[in-house]
Amino acid sequence: MGLDDLYQALILDHYKNRRHHGELDEPTVAVDEYNPMCGDEIHLEIRMEDGRLAGIAHRGQGCSISQASASMMSEAVCGMSAAEALGLVEHFRRVMRGDEAPDEDRLGDAIALEGVAKYPARIKCALLGWIALRDAIGRAGVDGALTAAKATGRADGHR
Ligand code: FES
Repeated sequence: MGLDDLYQALILDHYKNRRHHGELDEPTVAVDEYNPMCGDEIHLEIRMEDGRLAGIAHRGQGCSISQASASMMSEAVCGMSAAEALGLVEHFRRVMRGDEAPDEDRLGDAIALEGVAKYPARIKCALLGWIALRDAIGRAGVDGALTAAKATGRADGHR
C-alpha cells in the first residue's frame, strides 16, 4: 500500500468512525462553524479544565474531508493546553496554505490531509473543524478573562 492509499484509508476510517463524535455533558463553550461555499456545518463543544482541553466533541453534516478532519483534530488536541491547541491549529492552517511542512508528531492522523493543500476548493472543508476549535478556545478565553476581572473587582472593593 502506497502512502496516498494509506492516507485515503485513514480519511475514510475517520469519516466512518468519527472520534469524539457527539456532545459533551457540560461543555464550557459550543460553536457552530459553516463553510459558506457549500453550507456544510460543524457543531463543536469543548470543556476546559485548568486551561486544558479536558473534553471535545463534534457533530455535523458535511463531506468526508470535513468530517474526517474534525475527527482527526479532536483526537490530536484532546488534553492539550489552550496555547498548544491554538499552535496546532495555526500549524495546520499553514500546512494547508503550503507555507509549512507538516509535522506528523503534532498532527497525528491529520497528516493524512496534507494532500488537500493541492486542492484549494477543499481546503475550507479540511479547516472547518479547526477554525471552530480556534473560535471555541477564543470564547472560552474571554469568559475566563471576565471571571478574572470580576474577581479582581471584588478584591479591589474590599480595600
Ligand atoms: Fe462542504 Fe466539504 S463540501 S465542507
